[in-house]
Amino acid sequence: MRRPIIAGNWKMNNTASEGAALVAAIKPLVKDAKCDVVVCVPAIDIPAVRKAVRGSKIRLGAQNVHFAEKGAYTGEISANMLKEYGVQYVIIGHSERRQYFGETDETVNKRTLAALAAGLTPIVCIGETLEERESGKTNEVLSRQIEKDFAGVEDLSKLVVAYEPIWAIGTGRTATAEQANETIGFIRKRMKKIYAGKNAGRMRIQYGGSMNAGNCKELMAMPEIDGGLIGGASLKAPDFAAIVNFDKE
Ligand code: 13P
Repeated sequence: MRRPIIAGNWKMNNTASEGAALVAAIKPLVKDAKCDVVVCVPAIDIPAVRKAVRGSKIRLGAQNVHFAEKGAYTGEISANMLKEYGVQYVIIGHSERRQYFGETDETVNKRTLAALAAGLTPIVCIGETLEERESGKTNEVLSRQIEKDFAGVEDLSKLVVAYEPIWAIGTGRTATAEQANETIGFIRKRMKKIYAGKNAGRMRIQYGGSMNAGNCKELMAMPEIDGGLIGGASLKAPDFAAIVNFDKE
């Protein structure tokens, strides 16, 4: 059995004090959560949110990490710096980073290996554009990302994959539960084939893209979907809590 994991991606929203207040509001609402609960926050919010999550089930995540251990990389943050602040998870290769910040499959791979080496759990994002889906290239694009992004990973159960179809991010247009289930099933099959003997069957795969309080139950009921990476809806305590509590009445 793969334990469900619901993670919020705050993106560039919430100052440190706003983030601490949001966590304070979420905390009592998720105290009976049966799944792993993570908030991935802007780097500068980490100290305040770390304090705010104390005594709760909420774990701390970052939104990016540099691949070098240290050195002349102005403006960057290393895996060890995150670790020292109690960060356990880190989003890598989000489509916004691929689109706006020159992230490539090669740098995603380097970041993933660096995060794993430091003992962080990477949440590696993959997904296709609308154009790629409409021209029937979804599986080809995902296969390429799978081959490159996870090269050299010894134990795939130590990371989380987020399948985020780019056309569903922030658009209100969710993949149907069937579409998401089918594509995530394909990702798992490819992983098992390409990385035989690397624990791909135990790797958790989330869905991300306009997931909210209204559609989370249907998505989470699908056998291949192990969790969600939530953008907009993670910024409102009741909405995020409703997703975390997807298994309750
Ligand atoms: P939305 O939930 O706002 O569509 O964002 C999804 C996402 O990009 C999470 O990483």
